[in-house]
Amino acid sequence: MTFAGGHDQQALAFEEHGTGQPVLLLHGFPLNRTMWRPQVAALSATHRLIAPDLPGFGESRALPPSRTIAGMAAAARDLLNALGVERAALCGLSMGGYVALAFAHAFPDRVAALMLADTAARPDDPQRQADRTRRIALIQGAGMAPFAAEAVPPLLRPRTAAEAPAVARRYQAMVESTPIETVVAALEAIRDRPDLRPALPVMPWPALVLVGEHDPITPPAWSEELAAALPAARLVVLPGAGHMANVDAAERFNTEILAFLRGVAYA
Ligand code: MLT
Repeated sequence: MTFAGGHDQQALAFEEHGTGQPVLLLHGFPLNRTMWRPQVAALSATHRLIAPDLPGFGESRALPPSRTIAGMAAAARDLLNALGVERAALCGLSMGGYVALAFAHAFPDRVAALMLADTAARPDDPQRQADRTRRIALIQGAGMAPFAAEAVPPLLRPRTAAEAPAVARRYQAMVESTPIETVVAALEAIRDRPDLRPALPVMPWPALVLVGEHDPITPPAWSEELAAALPAARLVVLPGAGHMANVDAAERFNTEILAFLRGVAYA
């Protein structure tokens, strides 16, 4: 693990694997870069993977957490600057997908391609916004445990949790180890994120939209909407997978990404 990017000694923790064209992996909420473990061996054989912990998450916990998705995208851009990476293919899952879209919107010259998994360009509706606010109050009043009890089960499809208790425990630990102030700031950032649907038609890059067939958090209909609005997107629904499609259907996820990346020109 290394630290780089950021201002005034504020640096993101990140890991790098492999060589070749860069792929920036953006993790979901309330997780950290270790959620990409099922991808590392397969994707690093041909590409340079750069997986940061977004501000306040994982080992970037010394940093003030970003209170906006755009702030997280700017931190990721700072990391690419520090690494001298001109253009990267962005791969984001869920909150990481919100960050990837915000990054593409703010820094279009730095993007080679988009891989958007279990995510959406639409904002929270009022009901979801109210639920984020309820969760902030829950955490502030009762700490992380009741929040984790609500947040972890919908991440993994029930079968993964039953078949692989170690995977489920790892996710539980990831959530519970995230600092309260980071979780609160990220809930605000997600709740208040803008509608990026109007920006999609002018996002020209090749795009791969992936979604678990049974994703209860960002359902397939939202990925259909995303893929239909992006000019050069392909939609892949991963059978049997839930929200963490990169875990539930890791092999197919990796195969689709590798096939997609083979066609991406970085120039
Ligand atoms: C995530 O997995 O990043 C979150 O569940 C996203 C969300 O709650 O909108």
